[in-house]
Amino acid sequence: MNWQRSLEIKRNQSLKNKTTFKIGGKADFFSEPNDLAELNLVVSWAKKNSIPVSVVGAGSNLLISDKGVRGLVIRLNSAYFRNISLKGSCIEAGSGVTLPQLIQFVKNKSLSGSEFLAGIPGTLGGALAMNAGCWGKSIGDLVREVEVLDYAGNIKKIRSKEIKFGYRKTNLKNCIILSAVLKFKRGGREAIIRSIKEYILKRRNSQDLTFPNAGCIFKNPKSLSAGRLIDLCGLKGKSMGGALISDKHANFILNKGDAKAGDVLKLMRLIKTRVRKRFKVNLEPEIKIWGGTQR
Ligand code: EPU
Repeated sequence: MNWQRSLEIKRNQSLKNKTTFKIGGKADFFSEPNDLAELNLVVSWAKKNSIPVSVVGAGSNLLISDKGVRGLVIRLNSAYFRNISLKGSCIEAGSGVTLPQLIQFVKNKSLSGSEFLAGIPGTLGGALAMNAGCWGKSIGDLVREVEVLDYAGNIKKIRSKEIKFGYRKTNLKNCIILSAVLKFKRGGREAIIRSIKEYILKRRNSQDLTFPNAGCIFKNPKSLSAGRLIDLCGLKGKSMGGALISDKHANFILNKGDAKAGDVLKLMRLIKTRVRKRFKVNLEPEIKIWGGTQR
């Protein structure tokens, strides 16, 4: 479908390489609008045709079904949605900006506050939608304001005090995150660089990044570590098809090359069953599962 020369809605687009897991089938429709006007056009087209809309960021916390995803998948990957600008000790950034780009930008401005996010591969929009975090902090701590587009085509600015930031969740639902204003503190560039390096090293030492993965698969149950529970069940190294529970961090599942979503889901079911049996703990997925009957 071609409305203007640049705006395209592609049919049957493979999503596999749009996720860090490198797993999954096709989207019925896929679009990367160039700007807000084009985003509005695709969203209203989907609404008019009763087509469900999902937004994919860096696909870093996502398992896509082998059967693919029904409806329209939008990715805000154009320059318009990847703009960053400085506003005093705040920045305004588009939702398609990746966290590594954001960290690089604020580091160069000697602004401190986002160092703890170093090593997370997601986009700002994705990170905000799920309040990504680590080391006891989360991106919600930095937010001053988020701008969203609702499915009726209205743009709204939501102040941080109106947003509920929980553990890997927010109330930013039924809308598309467009941009955010984040607040920082002035800092020394050298100290910021040192801190970023330390966080990356801590992550490399504890997590398994040797093969495509989606980060931690399950949320940590209250005051427990999912990784430790899975480890204590003796499941490290267990594989199904091309999917393997990491030997280094048991809450990581690795795609050894040709893993199917079905392989990952089998491992997830095994983990849930074993952890429930041994510890009476019900593990909840941290990753989003899209498509097929698995959504
Ligand atoms: N542990 C084991 N065996 C394992 C893995 C971990 O015994 O196989 C133990 C560790 O030795 C440590 C404890 O469990 O004593 C906690 O492990 P770790 O420090 O690796 O942190 P985590 O609780 O597994 C959480 C987040 C990570 C985040 C890190 C650092 C969740 C589900 N995970 O992991 O986030 O990077 O803390 O803050 O909240 C993600 O969101 O994708 C993610 C990986």
